[in-house]
Amino acid sequence: MPDMMNPDKIIKTKKIGLFDSGIGGFSVLSELFKIIPEAQIYYYSDDANAPYGPKTDEFITERSITITNELMSQGVELIVVACNTATASSIDLLRETFPKMIFVGVEPYLNAYYQIPEGQEKKMMVLTTESTGKSERFKRLKERLDPKSMIDHYSLTNLARLIENYYYHSETNTDFDLRVEEELSFLKDHHYSFAILGCTHYPLINKKIESLLNLKTISPCAHVALRVKELIHSKDHVTESTDEFFQFLSSTNNHWIQKSRKSFLGPFKGK
Ligand code: DGL
Repeated sequence: MPDMMNPDKIIKTKKIGLFDSGIGGFSVLSELFKIIPEAQIYYYSDDANAPYGPKTDEFITERSITITNELMSQGVELIVVACNTATASSIDLLRETFPKMIFVGVEPYLNAYYQIPEGQEKKMMVLTTESTGKSERFKRLKERLDPKSMIDHYSLTNLARLIENYYYHSETNTDFDLRVEEELSFLKDHHYSFAILGCTHYPLINKKIESLLNLKTISPCAHVALRVKELIHSKDHVTESTDEFFQFLSSTNNHWIQKSRKSFLGPFKGK
């Protein structure tokens, strides 16, 4: 879900920044492209430091501040922290440090349990990185949205890294399927009906997770994109044109490059 701590301010901008430890933010990006095609997107992948899951809050916060400065230097007026881990550790401090910037974070969609009608099978779990799972922000969110502890929580040590390496660095790992299966195998016998994906890397392989665990996955990414749309669209901000504007920066390849949206998102579609 989008964290809703943003000011009720509507801004007119087409310049939006996004960042993640790597390619996880693509799950938000693809939703943004669908509903705000005119957006000019600057995407920062901190792949030199991925995964964030095992890192300390201090480290992730320092990276988040550096990346925010870089995105602001491109003139963005809204930043999507397209990473549950960075949202959990850093978004409060980002808002304090950059009071004029609008930040939209990503948090596990824990509302889902109570949205499923009574009587329907809804044994549910939420999957996060280690860092998100340990964070005070996640604990508070869970207490608030799941006061009866109906949703089981598991932190996954390796899944984000596996996805990052396989899809982004094209690691020649023919064992990818096997390793994902190993990582999730302890969940098989629990017979969950739903898994809330609390890391933006996970929706990139939602179909795989669904078939391995025989359940449905729940991702907040479409809701996050909607929240961005609410914040940037005012009544008189109407544009028909679809720019193909998409800039990409990674911390391993330190210069902004123009990418075609289609070619860049292509490899991740339907995984
Ligand atoms: N995709 C990020 C998240 O949503 C980070 C995963 C990682 O780098 O460990 O938490």
